[in-house]
Amino acid sequence: MRPGLILRAAADPQALAVQAADLIAERVRVKPELSLLVATGSTPMLTYAELARRVQAGTLDLSRVTAVQLDEYLGPDSLGLDDTDQRSLWGWMQRSFVGPLRITRTVRFQFGEDAQQTCTHYDAQVSALGGIDLAVLGLGPNGHLGFNEPPSGPDAPTRVVPLSPESQVSNRVYWDREVPRQAVTAGMTVILAARASLLLVTGEHKRSVLRRVLNGPATPELPASLLGGPDVTVLADRAALGSALAGSTAGGS
Ligand code: F6R
Repeated sequence: MRPGLILRAAADPQALAVQAADLIAERVRVKPELSLLVATGSTPMLTYAELARRVQAGTLDLSRVTAVQLDEYLGPDSLGLDDTDQRSLWGWMQRSFVGPLRITRTVRFQFGEDAQQTCTHYDAQVSALGGIDLAVLGLGPNGHLGFNEPPSGPDAPTRVVPLSPESQVSNRVYWDREVPRQAVTAGMTVILAARASLLLVTGEHKRSVLRRVLNGPATPELPASLLGGPDVTVLADRAALGSALAGSTAGGS
């Protein structure tokens, strides 16, 4: 396995959600003002539901956490989608994370006339926060992080990106409407500068891409393989791990 990764295994997606929620809750206990970069997509939804359960039970307080949006689609006019558009990732983040977890502080992509200016403003907001404490990430089928599609090197900035045909196909499952062709994404610069990262991976369909992420080499052709540094945890279920578990330092349930 590539050095610098901590690999943890979970029996199934529900067990993974509990482990991920434990990890996030522990970070918040140590630093209640945590800045948290938040992926949407299917993988982290059970984790967010588990966090919401704890918040609603009164055993977890996320009121001082700042939730930072990871990415967003652009409409045909190159501006953001309306928040009520079912394709809006901000809308999804509101429904799955910000609302149920009673988050009061957020950083989102704010759209004006010019999407590149939106990105500059986003970076300034992240800098003003002091950067990202913990990035909660999902793994794209092509190894993308956020919408940093291959190839995206470590210097890839926050920017407007065309979506690869592969991402357009994989995202079509969410709606019966057309998948946007462009998006804005936190750059690899933002993601890789996070003080800690948690990459969540579930399902057999992610097995081959996960194997490449775990075993290297680190390459812009597989942006997730660029994760490294002092505090990167890959938390995967057994369906995703398959035989990658053999010979690794994996632990967990
Ligand atoms: C979503 C995002 C994407 C997803 C990735 C995995 O905000 O940033 O990179 O994390 O496409 O998606 P799922 O979890 O649906 O397999």
